[in-house]
Amino acid sequence: MKDETKNPENIEETGDMRTDWDLRAKKNAEKYIACGWHDDPKKFNWSGLETTQYLLGDIWEAVEHGKVLEIGCGTGRILKFLSYLFDEAHGVDVSEEMIRKGREEMRGLDNVKLHVIDGQTFAGLDDECFDVILEFAVFQHIPKKKYVKSLLREAYRVLKPSGLMKFQVQAVIRSTDELGTWHGARWPLSEYVREVREIGFHIVKTHFDLLNFWLVVSKKPGIKLHRTKRKIPILKYWKWKFDAFRFRT
Ligand SMILES: C[S@@+](CC[C@H](N)C(=O)[O-])C[C@H]1O[C@@H](n2cnc3c(N)ncnc32)[C@H](O)[C@@H]1O
Repeated sequence: MKDETKNPENIEETGDMRTDWDLRAKKNAEKYIACGWHDDPKKFNWSGLETTQYLLGDIWEAVEHGKVLEIGCGTGRILKFLSYLFDEAHGVDVSEEMIRKGREEMRGLDNVKLHVIDGQTFAGLDDECFDVILEFAVFQHIPKKKYVKSLLREAYRVLKPSGLMKFQVQAVIRSTDELGTWHGARWPLSEYVREVREIGFHIVKTHFDLLNFWLVVSKKPGIKLHRTKRKIPILKYWKWKFDAFRFRT
């Protein structure tokens, strides 16, 4: 029996991040984004809402609701919900095809901005302009440690002083470097923590979740220059629910 959690549909990998993710996006974007939730559009959309709550739930009180950046946003499964909670929701992705589909999926959401990146840098994004940076189910697919490290450095550059970054990584004991674009390089939490601290972040907390992942919350030191007005969660919340159910019916 095919192991769907490995490489769904066993697409051959070239090792080039853009080529491989473009191919996956063309074949079945939803399947490669959230395997197990992909076969029903409502379920897929609902999973985006759940992941958004999962990512923001424990940092919500500390979050400034100005500009958020999602690293590896795919077609916007999470980003579309972030757009209801932040003034601007930016997504970067190495795959042109994911971004093309994302633009289609999120047309009409005027505060969503999508950018194709080289998989290592946020070229074109200004220094210190984001309040929050999030990453979910992306670093685990990056084939080389040096690319992840570069993205973490770039996250520090584009984050405002006192901004928050939350990222998810797989829980492993030993490092495995230079794998593919599905099973990427993996390294233990201690190495992530060291790396993130060396870059200049403070670690706020690390959290082990039941699915065998670590979540790391870190903060760029510095003084908040202003407070952003909190968005109105009540109305937005019901719009979320409505959109989650209405999705492509
Ligand atoms: C499993 S999907 C997750 C998408 C999204 N985070 C979500 O959970 O809905 C992984 C995404 O990361 C993107 N990706 C892979 N390597 C990347 C890199 N080095 N830089 C930016 N995006 C990358 C892929 O194109 C894909 O859209």
